[in-house]
Amino acid sequence: MKRVTIRVPATTANLGPGFDAFGCALSLYTDVTFEETDAGLEITGCDEEYTGPDNLAYVSYCAALATMSEELRGIKIHIEAQIPVCRGLGSSAALLVAGAMGANVLRGNKLSTQGLLNITNAMEGHPDNLAPAFYGGLTASMVDNGLPVCVNFPLHPDWEFLALVPDFDLPTTVARQALPTEYDRADAVYNIAHGALVLKALELGDEKLLRNAMQDRIHQPYRKKMIPDYDKIESLIRTTGAAFCLSGAGPTLLCITRNPGLEEKLARKLHDITEANWQMIPLHVEFEGARVISQE
Ligand code: HSE
Repeated sequence: MKRVTIRVPATTANLGPGFDAFGCALSLYTDVTFEETDAGLEITGCDEEYTGPDNLAYVSYCAALATMSEELRGIKIHIEAQIPVCRGLGSSAALLVAGAMGANVLRGNKLSTQGLLNITNAMEGHPDNLAPAFYGGLTASMVDNGLPVCVNFPLHPDWEFLALVPDFDLPTTVARQALPTEYDRADAVYNIAHGALVLKALELGDEKLLRNAMQDRIHQPYRKKMIPDYDKIESLIRTTGAAFCLSGAGPTLLCITRNPGLEEKLARKLHDITEANWQMIPLHVEFEGARVISQE
């Protein structure tokens, strides 16, 4: 029976003002193995609640097979996830990407990466995590006539990322429900301008510009209320000179800097000002997107 393992990087979406558009792949991974069987579905390596047919890797696997007009046979799926679940680091996107790519590889690579992106974007509803998960690096995406169009942007090699991951989760559906459906023109202009300068600052390696540009009026002001101690943590990060944003829909907070040693600088202070337990995960940009790491 054929078997393939797909490795997908974590992703941080939005990067401040780039709501539903910007994303960056990071050095934390989820590996998903797909092994064809005669019949049935078996999912291992995750909590019991995710072992049914609504598992995102399986849903995406089935969608890709349907797009290729390929027959659905039995499948065993094994998940080894480093990416924390429901924390704003692209765990759902990683499963969708792995599922579509796994089906494609097992059935002869009939679909292009753009084709896989189209399938997964139809399920996720926005391409900002999916694009860097497929292509690696820093991406910006738009959806045109229902189809995602994604491009990679240059990124200075010296950036270091520090993810502050709390011990509570925040489902994306809840974090999206907290957002208004309409915005003032001034807020739209603010985000367009700040978004353009975030991309330039990331390219140039300009930390001061990034710190100033990485601000947002579309989602962070509404979501921070769901994250205890957000304002205190932001103030602490800003004293270090690092740029700061919510990672995706949260609750993970992201610091971006070119100065090594941020983790050590924050360690005790973070503990002193917060109630929740925040794990600090140092990360770097992953320039390679989802890939096959073994195949039989
Ligand atoms: N752009 C998305 C959001 C990312 O902020 O809701 C999370 O999936």
